[in-house]
Amino acid sequence: MPKIATIVGARPQFIKCAPVSREIRKYFTEILIHTGQHYDKNMSQTFFEELSIPEPDYNLEIGSGNHGYQTGKMLIKIEKVLLDVEPDLALIYGDTNSTLAGALAAAKLHIPVAHVEAGLRSFNRKMPEEINRIVADKLSKYLFVPTQTAVNNLVKEGHTEGIYNVGDVMYDSFLFNLNRIEADAVLNKFQLRSKEFILATIHRPQNTDDPAILKELISALENLNELILFPIHPRTRNLMRKFNMTVNSNNLKLVEPVSYQEMIVLEKHARVIITDSGGVQKEAYFAGVPCIVLRGETEWVELVEHGWAHLIGNDFKKIQATLESLGSFQSSSDRIFGDGAASRKIADILNGNKTIDNSKTQV
Ligand code: UD1
Ligand code: UDP
Repeated sequence: MPKIATIVGARPQFIKCAPVSREIRKYFTEILIHTGQHYDKNMSQTFFEELSIPEPDYNLEIGSGNHGYQTGKMLIKIEKVLLDVEPDLALIYGDTNSTLAGALAAAKLHIPVAHVEAGLRSFNRKMPEEINRIVADKLSKYLFVPTQTAVNNLVKEGHTEGIYNVGDVMYDSFLFNLNRIEADAVLNKFQLRSKEFILATIHRPQNTDDPAILKELISALENLNELILFPIHPRTRNLMRKFNMTVNSNNLKLVEPVSYQEMIVLEKHARVIITDSGGVQKEAYFAGVPCIVLRGETEWVELVEHGWAHLIGNDFKKIQATLESLGSFQSSSDRIFGDGAASRKIADILNGNKTIDNSKTQV
């Protein structure tokens, strides 16, 4: 069987690769390379176990560091593995430093690259992810895009070939996992009642790295007169420690990062979601829950256009007013993110399977 080297390293990539891995293993030998960008048990191993992702064949144990250092170390170690394995294709996901390093290492060795979640743009080059995406897309032969907007972005940048609008693999994951865990057990574990709490996540550097901004944000959450469950990303936890910040309200419940299946149950039962995460914004839509986005722009513009997500940037005073203005939420029948079969389409396209009508996905 032909060989695919999959390169992942951060939490959202484990969630994205789980359904794709299941599909591609029907036709290919997959060699799973974990860069070790995320390494805490609840940021890495938990997802492999819960989502039945096969053990990585290689864990490069890169760990944390500045962008150049982290990406550089990944590049050196990924290249070594690729030289060893000689795959027919390298498969990368999303927009992290692991994505960039995987794309660069493979392209320099003339290994074709397939990028899942290609074509997204925030048009904000201060986001490290924007740089990673642009480079990864430029170096990829297969551009598996989740939305029509992503297709348009690539076409505007001059991409003419290899664009496949397959839908969003995170939607596949959401549908596959939603009912695999008992909702009551999750709500009891966190002492919550359905629709009587807000779920919050924060990890973007623009919200966390400046102590004044992070303090203002945490204090805005503390002052909301509602129960908030806040599974805290290690970046944010570490920075709160560094800035000597403590939480002074019983309403704001900080907990360790939760598992994916717990997370999507919490999303489904939250009254509102407040987040700066890319993945959580989309899952709020999948779950039919309104979302306040702690960013000034988003790659997922459809969510804003359809009234599902509300961008407030870092004007945190707007959180309260936005919460008050949220009307009742109508479930949309639009299939903005595809039909939940993105992973199967990706595997079929890579396999050159003629039973799938590529004309419907290819641009
Ligand atoms: C990374 C991605 C971001 C993605 C996010 C998903 C880049 C540039 N950023 O951001 O696009 O949205 O992952 O969660 O690739 N840390 C731990 N334990 C861990 C992992 C991280 O303590 O297991 C702490 C370290 O202090 C580290 C910090 O979190 O310095 C940031 O980790 P890093 O992987 O560099 O970036 P993220 O903010 O997680
Ligand atoms: N997630 C999780 N546990 C948590 C927080 C998030 O499983 O405690 C999941 C979430 O459901 C989504 C993904 O992690 O699928 C999003 O990852 P993250 O917010 O770290 O990164 P981003 O999507 O912004 O790149």
